[in-house]
Amino acid sequence: MEKSFYITTPIYYPSGKFHIGTAYTEVLADSIKRYKKLRGYNAYMLTGLDEHGQKIQQVAISKGLTPKEHVDQMAEDAKKLWELMDIQYDDFIRTTDERHEKAVEKIVNKFIENGDIYKGEYEGWYCMPCETYFTESQLVDGKCPDCGREVKRMTEESYFFNMKKYQDRLIKFYEENPGFIQPEFRRNEIFGNFIKPGLEDLCISRTTFDWGIKMPNDPKHVLYVWVDALTNYITALGYMSDDDTLFKKYWPADLQIVGKDIIRFHGIYWPIFLMALGIELPKEIYAHGYIVMKDGKMSKSKGNVVYPEMLIERYGLDATKYYLLRNMTFGQDTLFTPEDFVELFNSDLANDLGNLLNRTIGMINKYFGGIITPADDSNNVIDTDLRNFTNEQIEKVEEFLDTYHISNGLAQIWTIISRTNKYIDETMPWTLAKEENKERLAEVMFNLAENLRKVAVLIAPFLPQTSEKIFLQLGITDSNLKTWDSLKNKKIEANTKIIEKGEPLFIRLDKDEEIEYIRTHMK
Ligand code: MSP
Repeated sequence: MEKSFYITTPIYYPSGKFHIGTAYTEVLADSIKRYKKLRGYNAYMLTGLDEHGQKIQQVAISKGLTPKEHVDQMAEDAKKLWELMDIQYDDFIRTTDERHEKAVEKIVNKFIENGDIYKGEYEGWYCMPCETYFTESQLVDGKCPDCGREVKRMTEESYFFNMKKYQDRLIKFYEENPGFIQPEFRRNEIFGNFIKPGLEDLCISRTTFDWGIKMPNDPKHVLYVWVDALTNYITALGYMSDDDTLFKKYWPADLQIVGKDIIRFHGIYWPIFLMALGIELPKEIYAHGYIVMKDGKMSKSKGNVVYPEMLIERYGLDATKYYLLRNMTFGQDTLFTPEDFVELFNSDLANDLGNLLNRTIGMINKYFGGIITPADDSNNVIDTDLRNFTNEQIEKVEEFLDTYHISNGLAQIWTIISRTNKYIDETMPWTLAKEENKERLAEVMFNLAENLRKVAVLIAPFLPQTSEKIFLQLGITDSNLKTWDSLKNKKIEANTKIIEKGEPLFIRLDKDEEIEYIRTHMK
């Protein structure tokens, strides 16, 4: 039976235009889905929007729209951006979808039947933009610890979810599943700082606004965002609906990607909701870091927001994706600077990869009229060394990608590219041509083409357009030569005719000009 792989992104708040931070989460999930597909999995990716809540209602009012008109517009915009970024999601859930609202009502009824919910009075410091209450001790200088804005003391009648009831089970689960939250330091943070010291019950309803799903037993309350939001991962699969085929097929999720800002909700409330429903917990939740700017978080008021459209229009989709995926290391925050963007473009894409392809295509045309002659594995030490090195690196790439260390995986792929460039210097094809050593020259050309083919396979999940361009220039049309397995058991066939004149993959950027361009196009 085909192995399945279910991957989810957070559902984003449709409160404003998405910046490269949101785009990064989406690209990361899309790349992992593509990788899994290439490895033979039946991969399914869910993304969507978290459309309820006070903040969305406020944004809509400020634009003179109803909340529904506002979120409809935002959903269009989000889908347009994901199309521009060629994101291969399988489903796009909106929490205003009828399928979601109906299932959430049933879920809440189940919580009520279980005796997990009680009515109480909530008092706390409330941050409107973050829609979160904080305790006194969580505030930083009397302000919201997440966004730094003013908080308001508020009291209201609310429903609560009895988290304490599940505390022991959650502790046991964490102890038995040490890899549940990645990276490990996040897991330790959540376990040590929040779970071990004792859970607070969670307030799950509000009466202060009405843009949300109503509490089934008490409609003056609307569900406060986390029950509504987190359950999207299962309602999208048809959980609690007439047709739960997808739920049966894909749940539990193999990987849930979130930003570090919301790992607490995914590491504590989400598993407890699932325990209360009696369904399995996801296999892994991965919290990535934030993209930050020199002067802190991206914000419109600082004018330091980078939008993905700007980078894509000027530098192309693959270059934008490469920057995001290569620059963000596993779980850590990463600084965005125009200098790094341009530098990485020039060194990795234009120089290393672009030149390797260009030189190879040029030489095969010049020396062999564009025909690749296949060679058996030669015993030449330089060739053996190149082959062994490449095979070893492929193993390492797999290890990194299988644990979702995408940046490390790409770095490893680039060592193959550098090694192959070095192979040209070592074999000196121009000297072989002068000496008319056609046999050796053909061998060298074949090894170059083969390594480029392998690189095209390896980068396919991350830079699919570039990968296709390389295949095209090498004259590779057979899909059997594009599979992951082909890295180990296939080679370019006899008399493959390459392109006569290849377009450069990436044209070197003028450093100063482009740094200035990016800087002046932040908003
Ligand atoms: N709606 C909730 C999530 C509910 S999931 C059941 C939410 N939405 S959000 O619009 O604020 O998006 C949060 C996500 O966007 C983060 O978890 C992260 O994945 C991504 N990012 C937002 N800003 C980011 C950066 N500056 N850098 C990287 N990712 C960022 O929270």
